[in-house]
Amino acid sequence: MALVTTTEMFKKAYHGGYAVGAFNVNNMEIVQAITEACREENAPVILQVSKGARAYANHTYLVKLVEAAVIECPEIPIALHLDHGDSFETCKACIDGGFTSVMIDASSKPFAENIEITRKVVEYAHDHGVVVEAELGALAGIEDEVNVSSDNAHYTRPEEVEEFVSKTGCDSLAIAIGTSHGAYKFKPGTKPQLRFDILEEVSRRLPEFPIVLHGSSSVPKEYVDMVNAYGGAMPGAVGVPEEQLRHAAQLAVCKINIDSDLRLAMTGTIRKFFAEHPEKFDPREYLKPARANIKELVRHKLVDVLGCSGKA
Ligand code: G3H
Ligand code: 13P
Ligand code: ZN
Repeated sequence: MALVTTTEMFKKAYHGGYAVGAFNVNNMEIVQAITEACREENAPVILQVSKGARAYANHTYLVKLVEAAVIECPEIPIALHLDHGDSFETCKACIDGGFTSVMIDASSKPFAENIEITRKVVEYAHDHGVVVEAELGALAGIEDEVNVSSDNAHYTRPEEVEEFVSKTGCDSLAIAIGTSHGAYKFKPGTKPQLRFDILEEVSRRLPEFPIVLHGSSSVPKEYVDMVNAYGGAMPGAVGVPEEQLRHAAQLAVCKINIDSDLRLAMTGTIRKFFAEHPEKFDPREYLKPARANIKELVRHKLVDVLGCSGKA
């Protein structure tokens, strides 16, 4: 199967009560780990590339790695998505350069400006058979160079969503209901709680419309402990409880973004490897267990959190 857009994936996810995983990719091992887990679980998948990933690995390398995964995993639908596109020009470069989906993130701009830039991206994308994710509301945390402090974060206002979607023509909408980017989402000792009332009001106003959750890593204790046990220092890293994500996936949420968890698995595993084998220096030896652990973590997300195993 060639690369696909997210249209069919989202239709099936919406009606099937599950979400498709959107995992960030930056190198070959991460692409392999994610897509091998999805192939074995027969799950659809969205591989997403941030501005930072394009700067690190180069657009062409990433597209070709994803195309290699499509060849290796012909049974499952794979979409290639731009994560947090910051301008029309970045979106256009990805639309022209083989992506099947782009996000235009103008959520930090005033409402009217967000509509204007999103509308422009949608027009160009739809003319080229590409779908568009937009965002309303501001998540806290770090995404690319943008660091949104918790003071500047705000929940999506449900009363704005109908006008936004009808004026922009976007295909899916990322909303802010309490998730945030990175590994430090909630204060240790507090009880994380997503605002399901906002999600339900948004989906009441936008029937059958796919909703997206960013900042949805759960920051597994196992890997935080591994990082900390082998020379790292990540005190107070706390993520979104997996049961809450599972619940969101049963509602209108069709795409759940997970990046930090994969980074943690990779870093924890590599730290452990070096602590146990200080004499080793072959990158294949330390990347192999890191890749294997990312794969098992993705499998767990597909089966226990997203509910998309067997849905390809
Ligand atoms: O939301 C941001 C993603 O986790 C990508 O992170 O901008 O460091 O590549 P990045
Ligand atoms: P996490 O930092 O929670 O993994 O969020 C990733 C994300 O939203 C990518 O856009
Ligand atoms: Zn994000």
